[in-house]
Amino acid sequence: MYKSLIRPILFFFDAEFIHHLSFKIIHLSSKLGFGSLIKKIYTIEDQRLEKEVCGLKFKNPIGLAAGFDKDAKLYKELSDFGFGFIEIGTLTPKSQEGNPKQRLFRLKQDQAIINRMGFNNEGVFEAVERLKKNENVLIGGNIGKNKLTPNKLATKDYLICFDALFDYVDYFVVNVSSPNTPGLRELQDREPLKQLLRELKKENSKLASIRAVDEKPIFLKIAPDLNETQLLDIIRIIESTGLDGIIATNTTIARNDLTSDLYLQEEKGGLSGKPLRERSTEVIRFIVKERSKSFAIIGVGGIHTPEDAIEKLEAGADLVQIWTGFIYEGPSLVKKINLSLLEKTVVTS
Ligand SMILES: Cc1cc2nc3c(=O)[nH]c(=O)nc-3n(C[C@H](O)[C@H](O)[C@H](O)COP(=O)(O)O)c2cc1C
Repeated sequence: MYKSLIRPILFFFDAEFIHHLSFKIIHLSSKLGFGSLIKKIYTIEDQRLEKEVCGLKFKNPIGLAAGFDKDAKLYKELSDFGFGFIEIGTLTPKSQEGNPKQRLFRLKQDQAIINRMGFNNEGVFEAVERLKKNENVLIGGNIGKNKLTPNKLATKDYLICFDALFDYVDYFVVNVSSPNTPGLRELQDREPLKQLLRELKKENSKLASIRAVDEKPIFLKIAPDLNETQLLDIIRIIESTGLDGIIATNTTIARNDLTSDLYLQEEKGGLSGKPLRERSTEVIRFIVKERSKSFAIIGVGGIHTPEDAIEKLEAGADLVQIWTGFIYEGPSLVKKINLSLLEKTVVTS
């Protein structure tokens, strides 16, 4: 019903408008008491789906990727669609508008999206207030820097977000891979990256010892456009800094083998969805082949079917996330993947 009836209506309107409208509808449904019904329809609870990664217990390995609920406004309601975890953000210290609209485009023929949102968010402190109400949703906190913060001062922005979120998220994601904040991807270079990750590790152990709790797992989210040398550098840095894992991958600036109209393909920004699937899995395989010690991998990019998710898990991802597939396939995608995992029993704890 979603693909034949609901999606054509939604896709008739501007993508960002529909995103906000859907948020309002989901919020209202929950206020009217439909949350438990949604949960009953979409959530699969089965011990065989549970997975422990970096000391955290995931109810299932399918997460909602960053950028969907940037401001932590709907994490509870979204988790009712069956997700094992929700990643909020990217959050920055100060609120910012992001890039001028229109900045979100559907490439329907390619089952893809191009976005150049530019870290539009209400700021980390607003999100913290909402997260204080969290009861049992496993939350990842994806952090970045404000657009106007020069790269040489970026570490401070990440630290502000890290400190603010420390008590309210289960794991952190350092986002240095969005193509929509000018210069951000330069933080993936060896020296700035080492410095940033070392500072965050230091802060992690400081806060953990002050609070007398465990350190929070920290992941680095990387771009799919890195070459092998850059990927090797990153793997070595993860190993030497003792980071907990990698999220592979963010959106791509490449525009390979697309069939949508040229004017759409040429929109600036990051491409997600089906055309990203193969490259992001390739990055996972490369990491698995080249790492010399074990660290966690969260696979994301172009998961639109259970087979796509299984491909990434079999490539070596411990967990996976979806974003664009949720839009194209509809809310039942999470349940379909989880049912397939149960059938295939590829989930091992
Ligand atoms: C509209 C949009 C906004 C996004 N915003 C963020 C973001 O703020 N931070 C981030 O790390 N990734 C962001 N992403 C990237 C996704 O988290 C994901 O890595 C990427 O879309 C690939 O997955 P997919 O093919 O399932 O969409 C965004 C993606 C989209 C489509």
